[in-house]
Amino acid sequence: MSALLEVSGLSTQYVGARGTRVTRAVDDVTFTLEAGRTLGIVGESGSGKTTLALTLMRLLPPAARIAAGSVRFEGEELLSKSDAQMRAIRGKRMAMILQDPMASLNPLFTVGDQIAETLRAHETTTRRAAWARARGLLAAVNIAAPERRVSEFPHELSGGMRQRVAICRALVYDPELLLMDEPFAAVDAQTRADLEDLIRALWRRLGVTILFVTHDIDEAVYLGQRVIVLSVSPTEVQTDLPVNLPDERDQLSTRSDPRFATLRAQVYALIQRAKRGDRPV
Ligand SMILES: Nc1ncnc2c1ncn2[C@@H]1O[C@H](COP(=O)(O)OP(=O)(O)OP(=O)(O)O)[C@@H](O)[C@H]1O
Ligand SMILES: [Mg+2]
Repeated sequence: MSALLEVSGLSTQYVGARGTRVTRAVDDVTFTLEAGRTLGIVGESGSGKTTLALTLMRLLPPAARIAAGSVRFEGEELLSKSDAQMRAIRGKRMAMILQDPMASLNPLFTVGDQIAETLRAHETTTRRAAWARARGLLAAVNIAAPERRVSEFPHELSGGMRQRVAICRALVYDPELLLMDEPFAAVDAQTRADLEDLIRALWRRLGVTILFVTHDIDEAVYLGQRVIVLSVSPTEVQTDLPVNLPDERDQLSTRSDPRFATLRAQVYALIQRAKRGDRPV
């Protein structure tokens, strides 16, 4: 079976005004991700995690250019797709959750419409059926008082609830790949733990493939079946580490498992190595 995602020799650069300054944000990154698995990519601030995520989704700002490489999604080369083809793939087959949920939510839509209208934008379905799907998803992410929430606007929700709605919106089409960029960085520790468990539960229930980038070592080990450590800029893959923890995980027993402690120490040491500027071996 071929991998769901095959990234090879990927390099993305930012070009300054009049092409003067070039920042090599992602440099020769190669990895694969099998369908149904979870993979965490960890790196220091500025190591190119967001740039990598945006490159995979082809959502880069105008100052960026993909200098080299290949991104194959279910065997199809994404880098040669037109913008219209990418729009059709994004949302339907691959979805992204960002650090700031407000960036993925429409402030003018109620919670119900965020989800229902996202579905109706690409699929012919009645408003009633779309709202039923929205309610089902809100129940699946354990949002408190869903009947009341559906008619509220994003600004009326707490940060954790907004992120739950953003998760619903991302999952509305049953995407094959869910890509997350520091999705829980802006919430408190307890909400963060709840959202991590929610993502793990949805992964187990829906079988969605999950790729996430984070600077948080514990989160990468807790959520991932594999962890990739990035070097400092220009960013390459430094190490690809299997997470030898059972798929059945919970905040208390997993985090107190000696294997968890060993893995986080390993990842920590690799990040320190990257900071010293050692290149991949
Ligand atoms: N729009 C841009 N224009 C020019 N350079 C940029 C732009 N966005 C990012 N960069 C540069 O690219 C490099 C990687 O940035 P990126 O945001 O991908 O890192 P990151 O790992 O996501 O960092 P953080 O953990 O702080 O979110 C940095 O050197 C950054 O300054
Ligand atoms: Mg970032």
